[in-house]
Amino acid sequence: MRFLKLIAVLFFVTIPLMAFAAEKKAKTVDELAKMYDVSSCKQCHAKIFAEWEKSIHSKSLIGTPRTMGGVQGAIKNWMSFKHSGVKEAKDVTVYHWTTTCFKCHLPQIEDATDEVASQIAEAYMKNDKATLAKVNINCLVCHNKMAVTHQWRDGKPEKDAVYGTKEGTHGDKKYKNRKKSATMTASVMCGQCHQGPLIDRPVTTQCSTLYGSYLNAYLPSGGDKTCQECHMKEVDGHSMFSFRDRNYNDPEMVKRALNVEVDVKKGYKSIELAKLPPSAKVVVKITNNAGHRIPDG
Ligand code: HEC
Ligand code: HEC
Ligand code: HEC
Ligand code: HEC
Ligand code: HEC
Repeated sequence: MRFLKLIAVLFFVTIPLMAFAAEKKAKTVDELAKMYDVSSCKQCHAKIFAEWEKSIHSKSLIGTPRTMGGVQGAIKNWMSFKHSGVKEAKDVTVYHWTTTCFKCHLPQIEDATDEVASQIAEAYMKNDKATLAKVNINCLVCHNKMAVTHQWRDGKPEKDAVYGTKEGTHGDKKYKNRKKSATMTASVMCGQCHQGPLIDRPVTTQCSTLYGSYLNAYLPSGGDKTCQECHMKEVDGHSMFSFRDRNYNDPEMVKRALNVEVDVKKGYKSIELAKLPPSAKVVVKITNNAGHRIPDG
């Protein structure tokens, strides 16, 4: 009986301890960066790593780089709102971030303390790019944190696994298993962040409404490709470039995006408006080749 009691005591002591361990939160930006450290991935996935480093996902707090100004503007707005709880940048908490910008620009902020949330807000206000560059949307954000979209059915992502298209073991020291994600190759994977606006929050946020346009315009008009097919398989792999990254002036990117046919009839003279000098009649036909409206953001 005493033995059973001991087991019961151990059970009730260890379960909360385990839960505590599982929910250990990062207390500094460096700790959060370490929690999502992807330096080990580079040795075996060198090509993908190099592609990802070029992508805007790898600088998701600095962004296009209009993002920094956008977020600074948001923080200033919160300071001016009577009910936001933010008087100075240091008052920004995880809650402020998860309900707005970082739901998509840095979802792993959920795994950090309010201290980290305020450090990042202060880094924005100081234009401290070095700090903002430490955390981003990296391999583990897509292949672990955001890899299970149906968590009530499939459970939370397992801590020691990378999610992809197959089950099995994996060579990485920390992420020893490979798990199959039900949605890794589906558009909803990208839609988790490329959707919006968020109108169900204490403050509405308008950013990246492109997934709505994919669902409501591209698919109904017969489109049948996924985001991954157009953005990863056809061209850039993990770089996921857009023509915005190339300042809208890369001819290859523009060609991918749009078909432009121009038909010009010179010397067109209006009979009704005979007094006007001869003009030209120009017919321009633009076809959008993207799976959604462009530009976005
Ligand atoms: C020791 C080498 C090694 C390291 C380190 C490594 N991987 Fe892998 N990884 C592999 C191999 C080999 C495969 C299987 C590739 C295949 O089947 O084509 C793989 C598969 C994967 C897959 C699954 C792809 C799929 O579609 O199923 C993902 C995702 C992945 N790795 C991510 C990572 C991440 C993230 C890291 C860093 C945390 C990492 N890997 C570190 C060797 C490694
Ligand atoms: C964790 C959230 C998240 C996921 C998942 C995600 N993205 Fe992104 N993506 C972003 C954010 C945030 C940016 C913009 C960063 C910035 O400019 O500040 C971005 C930028 C981009 C850009 C460049 C846009 C530009 O204006 O230059 C492309 C293209 C893109 N993502 C495609 C994809 C595709 C395809 C997928 C799915 C395979 C995907 N993304 C998954 C959050 C995400
Ligand atoms: C629902 C997810 C989501 C939320 C929430 C979100 N963003 Fe974004 N943001 C994105 C994505 C995805 C992109 C890339 C969009 C694209 O290029 O199509 C982006 C791009 C941007 C850009 C670059 C636009 C440009 O034209 O260069 C800025 C600035 C930006 N976000 C600021 C913010 C700020 C500030 C907040 C919070 C108030 C915020 N975002 C909230 C997903 C989001
Ligand atoms: C924005 C989300 C995102 C990020 C960031 C990301 N991946 Fe992926 N990755 C995907 C998606 C989605 C696929 C599946 C593409 C498909 O097959 O449709 C994929 C496929 C893969 C594959 C298997 C297919 C292949 O090309 O070999 C490996 C391995 C992989 N990723 C590793 C990595 C590593 C390593 C990193 C970091 C350097 C990384 N990924 C960053 C979304 C991402
Ligand atoms: C039929 C192919 C196709 C599909 C499907 C598609 N895209 Fe695109 N996307 C494009 C092309 C083409 C462009 C414009 C040229 C470029 O930037 O490569 C583009 C541009 C973008 C941009 C940049 C927009 C800007 O203003 O610069 C983002 C972000 C993006 N796509 C994300 C996605 C996401 C997320 C999905 C899935 C919901 C998706 N795309 C589905 C072809 C596609």
